[in-house]
Amino acid sequence: MAEKEELTYKEAIQEASGSITRFPLIPVKGVPLMSYIVEIWDSIWAFSPDPSDILIATYPKAGTTWTQEIIDLLLHNGDAAACKRAPTPIRSPFLEINSPPPIPSGLDLLKNMNPPRLIKTHLPFHLVPPGFLEKNCKIIYVARNAKDNLVSYFYFDNMNLCQPEPGPWEGYIHKFMRGELSWGSWYDHVKGYWLEKEKRNILYLFYEDLKENPRHEVERIMRFLDLSVSDEVIDKIVENTTFKNMKDNPMTNYSCIPPSVFDQSISPFMRKGEVGDWKNHFTPEQIKIFEEDYEKQMKDVNIPFRSLI
Ligand code: A3P
Repeated sequence: MAEKEELTYKEAIQEASGSITRFPLIPVKGVPLMSYIVEIWDSIWAFSPDPSDILIATYPKAGTTWTQEIIDLLLHNGDAAACKRAPTPIRSPFLEINSPPPIPSGLDLLKNMNPPRLIKTHLPFHLVPPGFLEKNCKIIYVARNAKDNLVSYFYFDNMNLCQPEPGPWEGYIHKFMRGELSWGSWYDHVKGYWLEKEKRNILYLFYEDLKENPRHEVERIMRFLDLSVSDEVIDKIVENTTFKNMKDNPMTNYSCIPPSVFDQSISPFMRKGEVGDWKNHFTPEQIKIFEEDYEKQMKDVNIPFRSLI
């Protein structure tokens, strides 16, 4: 079953290979999105979830796949075999993604699934389809410190051949600071959900906390989702979602996407999975410029990020 689904998805992507290109970005309410997404924007905005659907929201590269796996395992009482039924993007569709045919869009995949569905989005809060708020769906947001998030995105934009050309590292830092990358400004993204979290059904998590104490964070997610699994199952979930195990798992390591789209020889999807890798990339001058700008952009909120300095 898993193999068949994977093959079908892979085949669809392979068939579309000739139309895959680094798509241009077009702004939607000030947020640059891939042109293919913008083409179906009205249907995305009109998406009507079930109240039981769960939304995982992140800025790209903040730990989305990791959180998707943890939640799928929680929903399946830690049954690792059940969570190998299909690759991540099939089990937990990407709400807004749209690509050349015959690749199914996120909306196509969701149409054929029964709630509760585990839905991924990178949309900033003000672009989340209003149905999620009207139905009071549970939203799990994961934020990652800006510098590591930026480094991870740089490698991803190099290997994901649908994303705009990242260009050299130095210029990329400035594009990130100006909010010019796909899905827009990291600063607005993390702030948007932070400012809404008390009023809405939002659990706000940090990648760094997941790394430091995964058990604690898995338990927080479990409670937020009104689930109850045994201590033994929590241990299993933590073990199954270590970086190494997810890197070795063909259902989570994005090997379901062929090299014509995700060229993992440039950089693996499961790249490093660490906190503080930015120290290997930023020069002292870049740190200074980035941190001065960071203070300005983040002065109106106090989000307890770690590993900035
Ligand atoms: P790096 O590029 O720093 O390695 P997303 O799923 O949002 O695209 O995020 C991908 C980032 O999360 C990558 O970061 C990836 O390695 C990391 N990641 C994925 N699974 C992980 C895990 N189980 N533990 C730690 N990091 C993980």
